[in-house]
Amino acid sequence: MAVMVKKLHPLFSAEVTGIDARHDEGQLRAQIEALMDEHAVIVLRDQKLEDASQVAFTKLFGEAEIAPNSGREKMRSAHPEIFNVTNLAADGGFQKEDDPARKYRLGNHLWHTDSSFRQNAGKYSFLMAHTVPAEGADTEFTDTRAVYDALPAATKVRLEGLRAEHSIWYSRALKGQYQPSEEELRVRPPAQHPLVRTLSGSNRKALYIAAHVSHILGWSEAESRPLVDELMAFAVQAQFVYAHKWRPGDMVIWDNRCTMHRATDFEDSKLVRDLRRTTVREGLSVAA
Ligand code: OGA
Ligand code: MN
Repeated sequence: MAVMVKKLHPLFSAEVTGIDARHDEGQLRAQIEALMDEHAVIVLRDQKLEDASQVAFTKLFGEAEIAPNSGREKMRSAHPEIFNVTNLAADGGFQKEDDPARKYRLGNHLWHTDSSFRQNAGKYSFLMAHTVPAEGADTEFTDTRAVYDALPAATKVRLEGLRAEHSIWYSRALKGQYQPSEEELRVRPPAQHPLVRTLSGSNRKALYIAAHVSHILGWSEAESRPLVDELMAFAVQAQFVYAHKWRPGDMVIWDNRCTMHRATDFEDSKLVRDLRRTTVREGLSVAA
């Protein structure tokens, strides 16, 4: 079947048909990487991948991250690489208001990029829809290469050489009030990354920011906040945002190095939303 690409937004993202993620014909990895370099977010429809096939597909692109427990042990899949992105509890009912898994999940409603709080951060994420509400509960995306291109020249100069600290516990304190244990604080310390990076595949500059950013290195939080907030607000203006409307069988792949995304609100005590995520790591030799 011929591969067909349909753009979903003027600046980035595309729907791709004619690819079956279960069958690597030998060029699948190169084909997807080229699409990712161009579009940053791609949507493969009708994939219906089970966890094992999703993990195998993910591993074509690098080392798969292991999903942390974060008080959600009972939600663990037989495959440790699977992140459960769901409002269902282990007993099959809806997560209760004060379920730690729900509190943790609410952090996804802030604009972020996956695992920027790790030194070996997330490269691609693969989110596979099993059950989704008929309407709503979209995932929104922005391409931070397009955002960087659109920044005023003076701002680009201000960002030169700046590095930011990213912490999962910083963003979790902002939304959801998830309480990390001492052990979690110890095993998931903050990470530091340049605010702007040139990506090897596309050779484009991307802003690397997220709700995980606590401060600019060498600046206090109070000194950092105005610049970080200004960049975040600039990056998520309507003209930069693609909202994905899920259908069961959709697999959305995004490049965490040059996008941000967020979940949107829905009636999570009434409607089932059950997706699985896998994420490959960048590796540590990313150029600043
Ligand atoms: C994620 C995530 C958004 C959503 O899985 O990393 O942020 O809409 N998901 O569920
Ligand atoms: Mn995410």
